[in-house]
Amino acid sequence: MNTNIKKLSEITSRIVQAATPADSNGAILSLSHFFVSITKDDNFSSSLSTNNSDIILKNGIAISTVDAALCLDDTIRTITFLKGIHQAVHSLFERFPNERINILYAGCGPYATLLLPLLPLFQEEQLDITLLDINEQSLTSVKSVIKHAGLSNYHIRTVKADATRFTYPSEKKLHLLITETMFYALIREPQLSVTAQLAPQLTQGGILIPESIDLDLCCTLAGNEKRFDISSATNKVRISNAISERLELGKLFSLSKANSFSINKKKNEYYFISKTFEVPENFSSYPDLCITTHIKVFGDYVLNSGESAITNPYCIASLYTFEKAQSFSLVYDFSAIPFWQVKNQREVDAQAPL
Ligand SMILES: C[S@@+](CC[C@H](N)C(=O)[O-])C[C@H]1O[C@@H](n2cnc3c(N)ncnc32)[C@H](O)[C@@H]1O
Repeated sequence: MNTNIKKLSEITSRIVQAATPADSNGAILSLSHFFVSITKDDNFSSSLSTNNSDIILKNGIAISTVDAALCLDDTIRTITFLKGIHQAVHSLFERFPNERINILYAGCGPYATLLLPLLPLFQEEQLDITLLDINEQSLTSVKSVIKHAGLSNYHIRTVKADATRFTYPSEKKLHLLITETMFYALIREPQLSVTAQLAPQLTQGGILIPESIDLDLCCTLAGNEKRFDISSATNKVRISNAISERLELGKLFSLSKANSFSINKKKNEYYFISKTFEVPENFSSYPDLCITTHIKVFGDYVLNSGESAITNPYCIASLYTFEKAQSFSLVYDFSAIPFWQVKNQREVDAQAPL
């Protein structure tokens, strides 16, 4: 066995068995060192310092290779996805016995972090993998990882494409779609548009990862909310554990295979309008309007608000700026780089489709 695949296999076992935060942190740190060490001699590493930019796409930002690599250090996120995907693949073996499982990983980044580490747990013939990204440098990196980690015998192809427009080959069943192209509250990055394009292409019984992303609205004291923060300067991870008093206002939406926002391109319906909310009376102990994100990766593997950079609360307005008893809606606009806006009834009526 190639020495590197043996090393990866040991790290992977630690990841899937990690039971405590210390186990998780140690295993993810080892994975990070592993990826950096096996790719350091290839040219792409040195080219990053001169050419490392986000790519602005029609429906959101594809973050740079360096930032995509740093997602690995979002420890609870990475561990939870890896454990969830491991379980999802086993579920697919049961649902589709004797079939090779076809996987599309859209937005794989430079390490295909959420899938490649799991490969030593599977046999080469069991999986057919498509790694897709829009960023050429990330694909160069991922090819280097496959080669140096000793994963070349697996059935893996890389594709440079915009996932919001990609069509999976129609002659193959798509069993598993993995995509983590998101920021908290689904702002900035194109997760919703990627899901809207690709989830309907899953075969019946196929699995979308994450299974669901729930966005809810609450009133809270922003500074007291639990938050996860990767400080890129020091690479130290800080988690604030404060829990604030909250008033839950209700669901905005849930993004899932069943509700993947099939976009009506003809009508230009690239937005979501929430139900109407009212400014609560006596909001002084929870004066900030915030969107919280809750991710169900697969089965029992979930990421709660503030546990990860992608589930941090997004505080969108201070209730002190509203009129007394004002009613309002939230509008999610994903016609370009996705963002949220608070709108009053008159503005909502002007936007609503006929
Ligand atoms: C947040 S990073 C995640 C990287 C890696 N999947 C992980 O979880 O660690 C998102 C990745 O998706 C890619 N991406 C974003 N939008 C894309 C799109 N529309 N088409 C293809 N790739 C996209 C970015 O280039 C980036 O590599």
